[in-house]
Amino acid sequence: MPEIKFYARPAVPIEMHKVKIVQKLSLLPARERLKSMYEAGFNTFRLHNSDIFMDMLTDSGVNAMSDNMQSAMLRADDAYAGSETFYRMQKKLEELFGISNLLPAHQGRACEHIIAEHLVKNGNCVIMNYHFTTSKAHVTRLGGHVEELVRDEGLIPKSQNPFKGNIDLDKVRACVEKEGAENIAYMRMEAGTNLIGGQPVSYENMKAATELAKSYGILTVLDASLLQDNLYFIKTREESMKDKSLREIIRMIGDLYDIVYFSGRKFGFGRGGGILIRDEKLFHDMEDLIPMFEGFLTYGGMSVKEMEAMIVGFEETMDLDVISQSPQFIRHAVNTLDEMGVPVITPAGGLGAHINAREILTHIPAEEYPAGAFVAALYLCGGIRSMERGTMSEERNLDGSEHISSVEMVRLAFPRRVFTLSQIEFVIDRVKWLYDHRHLVGGLRFTHEPKTMRFFTGKLEPTSDWPEKLVEAYVADFGDDQ
Ligand SMILES: Cc1ncc(COP(=O)(O)O)c(C=O)c1O
Repeated sequence: MPEIKFYARPAVPIEMHKVKIVQKLSLLPARERLKSMYEAGFNTFRLHNSDIFMDMLTDSGVNAMSDNMQSAMLRADDAYAGSETFYRMQKKLEELFGISNLLPAHQGRACEHIIAEHLVKNGNCVIMNYHFTTSKAHVTRLGGHVEELVRDEGLIPKSQNPFKGNIDLDKVRACVEKEGAENIAYMRMEAGTNLIGGQPVSYENMKAATELAKSYGILTVLDASLLQDNLYFIKTREESMKDKSLREIIRMIGDLYDIVYFSGRKFGFGRGGGILIRDEKLFHDMEDLIPMFEGFLTYGGMSVKEMEAMIVGFEETMDLDVISQSPQFIRHAVNTLDEMGVPVITPAGGLGAHINAREILTHIPAEEYPAGAFVAALYLCGGIRSMERGTMSEERNLDGSEHISSVEMVRLAFPRRVFTLSQIEFVIDRVKWLYDHRHLVGGLRFTHEPKTMRFFTGKLEPTSDWPEKLVEAYVADFGDDQ
């Protein structure tokens, strides 16, 4: 979307849609939120949605649908096998990515399961620009390991680098040398990235990296779950691509990879997933896994209604007005927080605004999860649900010690087309209040710690009575009704 110019007021990003259906929200009083937080074991995944004012946990499966997406649901072709909906989906994805072989799956991690199950053998290495929790867990579950080869700048919190998700080609060469090309199951590029602040990957980097991988005979895989934001950044930040249409860009990207998979909970604004596989033989070899783990080959565990909606969602992704909204809102939040002195990850990326908890809560040891503590505190200070993206999201080392994450972030996801600017302003305000009262926030420790992906279902407790003190300070400033 070209940025809309203003005459007498400071320019702000504008919603290029209007609201047709609403869901009522309520803001629990702070002392009640404190009770809910204890009940949820200081893990925002365990909160009841009805106790939340601003749900910024994730953008997964919670994006707003358009009128056209909803109406498309009515024509879904319900059939166990051979549904016309599947063929429409396949055709649309082929039109966009240029790959006709589609395996449907119920969400992104299901695609990762199928891909890893078929390709990863015990002792294998999978190269990634950066891991995502589920993509790594599926590799390690099978005895493989992940090498994260993002360029060093990708992990520097404050930067002007427009493509912090880029993979480092020298690191790729060194990794192939060390592991041996035959031991590398595939190279997975995530565009954009999730765990390092929604930072995008440039087309130029995708092209160079896939050419390099192919020169070693290594299979190339694109995780396109966050591609819609990445497309926006390629179009607006990559000089050589600015005159290309989104349709041309997505096709150029598709042409680079052997496999493209996506979470339809993000890409396509629906709920589902899919794997596109260029090679006919590989496609047929992987095919058998779908009926076993997902559902028949023409629905793969998805509702055909959601599939129809996603087909429209894919097409809407080709509209710059649609895909601009989220990155522009995120940029507004990130830049405003930055101006207010709150440490944030810059430049603003896709997916959400990311706060650098490591820099804010320097008094909390890494083993007491500063980002997790900030996330819990932010819920207490405004009913805002965010997600920890740091050490708590890692798994322990084999010797039981903590694997200290290279980043310690709080992610405020911006589900697409969901929030208005006034709601975002509220969030900015409460983040700033919490930042100014950061000395009141203390650490967390696990009371129930699952072995794998503990951040989803684990339970924690505060290391002192800091939550009570924080809530009292909040009530003193805002009253006891909010
Ligand atoms: C980059 C990326 N890949 C894969 C996934 C997994 O997708 P799903 O949540 O649909 O399983 C996610 C989800 O957040 C993601 O961000």
